[in-house]
Amino acid sequence: MTDTDGDGLLTAIRSAVAAAPGRDSAMKQAVALLKDAIPHYSWVGIYVLEGNELVLGPYLGKPSPHTRIPLGRGICGAAASEKATIVVDDVNADPRYLACSIETRSEIVVPIMLDGQVFGEIDIDSDQPAAFGAADRALLEPVAAMLADRLAEE
Ligand code: SME
Repeated sequence: MTDTDGDGLLTAIRSAVAAAPGRDSAMKQAVALLKDAIPHYSWVGIYVLEGNELVLGPYLGKPSPHTRIPLGRGICGAAASEKATIVVDDVNADPRYLACSIETRSEIVVPIMLDGQVFGEIDIDSDQPAAFGAADRALLEPVAAMLADRLAEE
């Protein structure tokens, strides 16, 4: 992905998320735009924090067995607890990893936060090892900030 592509995609996601009629629509559109635009994103989903559990919202990719993840579990739980993006280059070498598909090799989880409060997270898996780098973080952290505005509204 080049910076130019990332900027164009970010602009498209910003428009779609801002114009969406509600939070579910905003999340669905962000997931669809990301999944369509970036070939190494094999699974794209959003978890929403409800109490102490992350509940799977819109996603594209194979169905995941992990539809509810307690905050203390998985890479998803770690990112929400630590309030920080986590990139895992080799999921099979990370003891926290909860498997969604045997084809998954690497993962990025980006918390959706506003003023230090976690509302959910963007979770992306790739079938390629070490698929996520600085360009993905530079794309996904602003997308998470846009979604935080919508999730905080309702
Ligand atoms: N791999 C995640 C679980 C979610 S599935 O990838 C969709 C984790 O370890 O928390």
